[in-house]
Order: sequence, then structure tokens, then C-alpha cells
Amino acid sequence: MTASSTATTFKETDAFAGSVLIESLDEVTEILRSRQFKMEGWASPTAKSAPLMQGVLIAMDGEPHMARRRKLAKLLDDDAVATYRDRHLKPTLDHCIAELAAMPRATDGSIHADLVPLAQRSVYRIAAAVVGIDGLERPETADRFIEQVKALGAGLTVDWSREDPDVVLKRAFDARDAFVRELYTPSFARRERVVAEARAAGKEPTAASHDLLTLMIDSRDDAWSGGDNVLLVETCAFLVAATQTTVLGFTNMVLRMQQWFERHPEDRALMDTDPEFLRRAAFESLRMTISTPVRQRTALADVTLASGRRIHAGQVVSLHFIPANADPKHFGAHGEEFNPHRTVENTTPWGLAFGGGAHTCPGRPLVTGSRNPTGTTGVDGTLVTLARRYYAAGLELDPEHPPVRDESTYYALYSSIPVRFTKI
Ligand code: HEM
Repeated sequence: MTASSTATTFKETDAFAGSVLIESLDEVTEILRSRQFKMEGWASPTAKSAPLMQGVLIAMDGEPHMARRRKLAKLLDDDAVATYRDRHLKPTLDHCIAELAAMPRATDGSIHADLVPLAQRSVYRIAAAVVGIDGLERPETADRFIEQVKALGAGLTVDWSREDPDVVLKRAFDARDAFVRELYTPSFARRERVVAEARAAGKEPTAASHDLLTLMIDSRDDAWSGGDNVLLVETCAFLVAATQTTVLGFTNMVLRMQQWFERHPEDRALMDTDPEFLRRAAFESLRMTISTPVRQRTALADVTLASGRRIHAGQVVSLHFIPANADPKHFGAHGEEFNPHRTVENTTPWGLAFGGGAHTCPGRPLVTGSRNPTGTTGVDGTLVTLARRYYAAGLELDPEHPPVRDESTYYALYSSIPVRFTKI
């Protein structure tokens, strides 16, 4: 599905009825940054996803939200991102490539595999490390964890689901129960001990165990106060936020690159000769892969935007990221097309892919490589690290078997992307 057909589908859902649709990059950015608007949609107590979302970062506003964001800033600073890359992402990818190499070969020597589970195992394991969930070394455990987080993700986005919401929510709660029993409880207990020992020794707990769970346990009298359930819902929401988005970003990037190389075969060589090429391609693909195409905010007062548009107090605005991220003023002509050589004016190369303002994605440095908003940093984030390793292994789409869309959602998710590797 193209970005524009996804957009049409989203416009047709009931969730945005009665709201004002905003589609220019400048207006969307201004609203996201303004203190005169508050988060809507995720935060609504009437949303079907409310039992899984109430009290999590993305559903909060004001000082309580900022208190958590200040704590999180240290968890995902440039040093931490480099550590995650070396300690978790690279070994995880080595492991995935070794698993591929052990698979049977076709007569031409290539190895056929499915990019979706491959991407998932890599991405979900690094997300688990950032959040503080242990024990995913064995592939069976990793695959169970992936299914649990996917079911939770479907629960969080149940308001946009094509399935019966009660069925989706039941699956989400069952998955959460299993996750708590099998992985969360032992990981939590380990970190409670770490925090107690560090405090007794007068040390900083996150120095010994640098992850979200340790940070939250250490802050449960302030930023994450309110009881154990607060920590559990935040953990689940964080896991969902960190995984599905990155898998979606990576798989869509590979699909777009394939089409680009079919029309520009000479650019394949750039993957070896120009380290920036894959980074630009990743950012360009992120610009077009909007994980939730519409975000909502409510005006707290009568507001006049710099464009002259007036929005009255109490009005819900639906910020439509897909047209905003193709705005010709910033992205030039044919913004709806993928072009890794695109030049971008006065905005980030990924546009609003990570949102903006107070709720801007805290995981963005992990994905793009560093905090630098221009993306010209000389380091690879998760997306490019994955792409570089798999392209070096000869990744290409399987010409005999086209990708299969996941029909349970409006998201451009795929249940299967058959690929082959020609250089393992
Ligand atoms: C390609 C990958 C990713 C994309 C496209 C993405 C996109 C986004 C966007 C658009 C928002 C803003 C939501 C809003 O304003 O309504 C957001 C928020 C968030 N993201 Fe990401 N994200 C990605 C990866 C990650 C990762 C790796 C993590 C964690 C390590 C993460 C954690 C979060 C959290 C916790 C929030 C909520 C922040 C808040 O409300 O203050 N994301 N993300």
C-alpha cells in the first residue's frame, strides 16, 4: 500500500470525526511545540485502549510528563546509544547472521528467509535490553516475547483495528499476563536488588544496570509514583513504542530500496562506497513511514497559528503527518516519492517521523544514531546498522514470492517479506 492510500483509509475512520485536519508541516510543527495544546487520543479515558494506556508517558502532559522525560534523557544520550549499539545490536545481528548461515541453501547457493521474523528478532532483543527485560537469548523465548509484545501493540492501537476490539483486548491482556509471569517478574526482581544494593553502597543504580526498569524502580517515589501497575503499563507501552515502529521502518525501507535499485541499479554500489547513502535512504524512508499517520491534540485556549488559522479552545485537531511530511516547501517536488538523494530545507531529513515538541520520540537517537537533528553524524542507528549488515550479506527480495500484507491492521505492516541472501 502506498503512503497516500494509507492516508485515505485513516481519514475514513471514525476516530477523527469532528476534529480539524491539519496537513502543513509548519502548522503541525507549531501545534506539537505549543503549550496551548494538550495530548488527545492516546490520553482519552473513553478510548478502547485506555486500560493499557492510562498513566503512560505518551498519555501525560505538563510537569509530570516532563519529570519522566528528564529522567529518560540520560537513558538515551549519545554515550548510552553507542553502548547499546556495541553491547546489544551488533552481537544480536552476529547471532541472526549465524542463524541464517546455518540454514539450507538453494541450488544457486543463496539462502531463502523471511525478513519479518529476522527484523523482529533483532529489533525486539535490543528493545528488551533498553527496557531491562532479560532472558531472550534462546530464539524460542525471543519469538514468544515478540508475540506477547505484538499482542500488546494491537491492544494499544485497538481504536484503529480492523478486528473485533474485545477479541484484540482479550489477547492483549492474556499476553501481558504471560509476559509478567515469564519475563517481567524475574527481570523486575533482579533490578529491585540492583537498586537496593547500589543505594546501600551510595552509588547510582543506573550505572550498574542502565535500563528503563532500573530507572523507574529508582524513581518510583517521584517520576513513576503510583504503584507497581504504573511501572508495568509504562514498560509495556515502551516495548511497543520501541519495536513495531523500528520493524515497520526497516521493512518499509527495504521494500522502497528494492524499487529504487530496480530503477537506479547504479546506486547499489553507493552502499559500499558512500557511508552516507544508507543513512540518507533510511531517513528518507522514515519520512514516508509514518507509524501513526494522525496524532491528535486539543486546544487549551483560543489560538491563532502563524499561518493565520484560528483554532478555538476545546477544539480537537488531527495532525496529518503524511501530507505534512511531503510538504513541497520543505521537501521539494514529488515529496510523495522515495528519493535517497533528496535535499531538505529547514527541517529534519525524517520530517515529523518522530513527532515533535514535548512528546517527541525519546528513542529517536537510538534509531538515527545520535541526538543530532540533521542526521549528518557519521554514526549508524538501529535502522542503518540492520540495513548495512543485511545488505552486506546480499539481501534482496525473493522474485518468486511477493511480500504479504498484515490484513489485521491499517498500518503498512507485513506478515511476511520473503528474501534471499546471496553473500553469506
Ligand atoms: C523507527 C522508529 C520509531 C519511530 C518512527 C517512532 C515514532 C514516534 C513518534 C511519532 C512519537 C510521538 C508520538 C506523539 O507525539 O503522539 C513517539 C513517541 C515515543 N517513542 Fe518512538 N519511535 C520510534 C522508535 C522508538 C524507540 C526505539 C523507542 C524506545 C527506545 C521509542 C519510544 C517512544 C516513547 C516512549 C514515546 C512517547 C514519548 C512521550 O510521549 O513523551 N520510540 N515515537
